[in-house]
Amino acid sequence: MTQLPTVIKLETSFSSHSAKLSERNISATIDEHLAQPGTLSSALVRHRQIERASFHTPGHKNRQHFGAFEFDLTELPGLDQLSHPEGILKSLESRAAHLWSSQESIISVNGASAGLTASMLSLASFGQTVLVPRNAHRSVIQGLVLSGLKPYWYEPEWHEDWQLFGQVMPETLSTALAKNPVGLAGVVVVSPTYAGSISDIKSLSKLCREREIPLIVDEAHGAHLIGSSALNNGADLVVHSLHKTLSALTQTGIIHVSKNSMIDANLVRANLRLLQSTSPSYSLMLSIEQAVAEIEGVDGRKKLAQVVNLSKECTHKIESLNEFTVFGKHENSDCDPLHILLKHQSENIDALNTFLIEKGIYAETILGDGLLLLLGMGTTAEDIETLLQALAEFKSSAKNLSTNLPVSVDTITRTASQFAIETALPPREASLLPSHSIPLSEAEGLIAAECIAPCPPGIALCVPGQKITPTAIQLLSEHSSLQYVRVLNRDPRQKSTNQVGDSNTNR
Ligand SMILES: Cc1ncc(COP(=O)(O)O)c(C=O)c1O
Repeated sequence: MTQLPTVIKLETSFSSHSAKLSERNISATIDEHLAQPGTLSSALVRHRQIERASFHTPGHKNRQHFGAFEFDLTELPGLDQLSHPEGILKSLESRAAHLWSSQESIISVNGASAGLTASMLSLASFGQTVLVPRNAHRSVIQGLVLSGLKPYWYEPEWHEDWQLFGQVMPETLSTALAKNPVGLAGVVVVSPTYAGSISDIKSLSKLCREREIPLIVDEAHGAHLIGSSALNNGADLVVHSLHKTLSALTQTGIIHVSKNSMIDANLVRANLRLLQSTSPSYSLMLSIEQAVAEIEGVDGRKKLAQVVNLSKECTHKIESLNEFTVFGKHENSDCDPLHILLKHQSENIDALNTFLIEKGIYAETILGDGLLLLLGMGTTAEDIETLLQALAEFKSSAKNLSTNLPVSVDTITRTASQFAIETALPPREASLLPSHSIPLSEAEGLIAAECIAPCPPGIALCVPGQKITPTAIQLLSEHSSLQYVRVLNRDPRQKSTNQVGDSNTNR
């Protein structure tokens, strides 16, 4: 008989931060055998040992406790079916619909990503084209590939000082709508953006309503905006991530179809079914129920209000250190408080990030020219204190920073902002035609067959169907990971066979 591996408590000893560890009540019970060096288990345990304060997703900050394995069940009698919910899962969705004031809310166990892709699919019967912002998440591009819709790209506000996209101005949308009047199936807006910029959805939805064009809002970063969500401001469909700021497990999301939506909720559910497992995880769904219950209750609302206050105080204290600037304060734009994007006067964001990591403080990412800190339901006053202390220490040591140090910023967003995507073919068409990989330097004039959108931030650098211009090549080659690109063997719009590649097969 095989001996069952002993399960031991890896409540670790080698961390210098073990005091902080016990404060976060970390008790990672992991199979000793699996936790050998070089395994995922050991890497996860080690990370939990060294991290003192989490400023990244998930929003629960590992302070939530329930047995993910204990409740890992399947669609048994009494446990309902996510694909056609009629019982307890339907009631959970109804609670969510009540909480966010939607007509119908549909659970995703594949994050906001599947929610957005399903939403794009649901637009296909409205027309052939869709207005897509340049900062769209790559799950929207996946939706273009699956739906056959052709994108018309438009640009949200560009913050030169921060090198990132912000809100969508009503004038921008109005111009984009006027330029592309025929066959529009819908409009997509990202709000809040990854950096936290919130658009005036009321004005944007009015513009869409006047033309009877559905508005989809990617509110993945704004599930906590209860009462001030895009759902309350006229959007037809809103997609939330439930693990970014709220307390559900990573990979949870929800689609809300608004009360006056032009989009049929049953169609959205059918499209989401195409993208999800037929064995949805009850651990994920249980965590959704817990996150919903938390935010429905008075205590949860108080906790959220406290986190918002902590964030405001934190921003204020960061600015009073004099050497840091926080995004949103001076940009004259509405910014979500749970997103703190900051930069230091040394402009060496890499040094700041490394300094914080050495102190056990993990940010979400370097975004544009700043460092993004994400707060969530699990954020505590101690986390903020730990951060503020570290920033004050950085301030004293930053005098010694060499100004000649190479500075790495988020070049993805900058690159994306520097060239317009020339759409030669709809992404779906380009994805299905024979294609092959070639060095980027040889791709001039050819048509891309793949989406390249490194995460974070998940903004597309290359979209299937895009004509690869010299400018695109020059900018894309700055990214060492982009040596090759998949291109179509032939441009189907040209009759002759004088295009690249001599193969008709996908390689
Ligand atoms: C703007 C935006 N939309 C959508 C998503 C996808 O969310 P999820 O991780 O829940 O799939 C992300 C994830 O980072 C995002 O930043």
